[in-house]
Amino acid sequence: MTAMWLKKVFTKAKSEDDANLFSYKGYEIPIDLMYMTGGGVETWDEISLGHQDQLRNYCAIEPDHNVLEVGCGVGRDAIQLTEQLSEDGSYAGVDIIKPSIEWCQQNIAARYPNFSFHYLDIYSQIHNAGGNLKTTEVRLPAEDKSIDRIILHSVFTHMFEDDIVYYLHDFARVLKRGGKVFASFFILDDEALSLLEQEKQKNPDSVFEGLDFEHEYGDGCFVQDLEHPEGAVAYTEEAFERILKKGKMKLAQPVGKGFWCGREGVTDGQDIAILEPVSE
Ligand SMILES: C[S@@+](CC[C@H](N)C(=O)[O-])C[C@H]1O[C@@H](n2cnc3c(N)ncnc32)[C@H](O)[C@@H]1O
Repeated sequence: MTAMWLKKVFTKAKSEDDANLFSYKGYEIPIDLMYMTGGGVETWDEISLGHQDQLRNYCAIEPDHNVLEVGCGVGRDAIQLTEQLSEDGSYAGVDIIKPSIEWCQQNIAARYPNFSFHYLDIYSQIHNAGGNLKTTEVRLPAEDKSIDRIILHSVFTHMFEDDIVYYLHDFARVLKRGGKVFASFFILDDEALSLLEQEKQKNPDSVFEGLDFEHEYGDGCFVQDLEHPEGAVAYTEEAFERILKKGKMKLAQPVGKGFWCGREGVTDGQDIAILEPVSE
């Protein structure tokens, strides 16, 4: 089954909204690029504000912090962070969708000189089919020990083990002492597996947002859609722990469990991991 957002990328964004713009906080954001982030106009503000709540709750960003965002998309978090970072702080966003990075450069960096955006020419079936590099061939655009916070909202949920491990190593290089990584995941722990199974029994055609991760795609890795494996990627708890270990990262606090699998009583969609290098 294809995840809902991917259906929109392949249908709606490619048709009536293609040439349209969405006005938000003084920006005119191209709607087709918005859909590449997994959400459209209806959810842009809610998801944007939700991300900022999550950052505040799990891993606060101070006005003078140097922030690196990996998978910044078309500036959802950057736009919010322009209101939070002072001139003493800085933000660098990277992504593999060239038009999104160009839009961010022309519209956000042009207004905020301490904000910069960088295109990485990494191949991805769904995000950059013309890309020429592997994730493991790039180096993130940040000096050693220069970054206070690294954020990845809904990015490792599209990536596979070796590439995640590679980024975690590079994160350890660029993080300052005391620096932290905020990264969302889909973690198939016992509770998530049991909730998904219960829902599948009750409602086989429509498990939460179309996510049920029924295809095994590697050791402890499960995908939603074998035709578009990067569309949504989940890891068992064991695989998640192995990835952190290989990446020389550890949890700085317990994982914040999300409602993506039908879990009740929580406000976050995906599972949230706050990481720090093991050497600390
Ligand atoms: C679901 S979107 C989320 C975008 C943004 N974080 C947001 O919440 O609006 C996933 C993003 O990750 C980016 N991405 C995928 N693989 C990547 C990689 N290897 N390195 C950097 N970015 C990547 C995609 O291009 C896409 O913009």
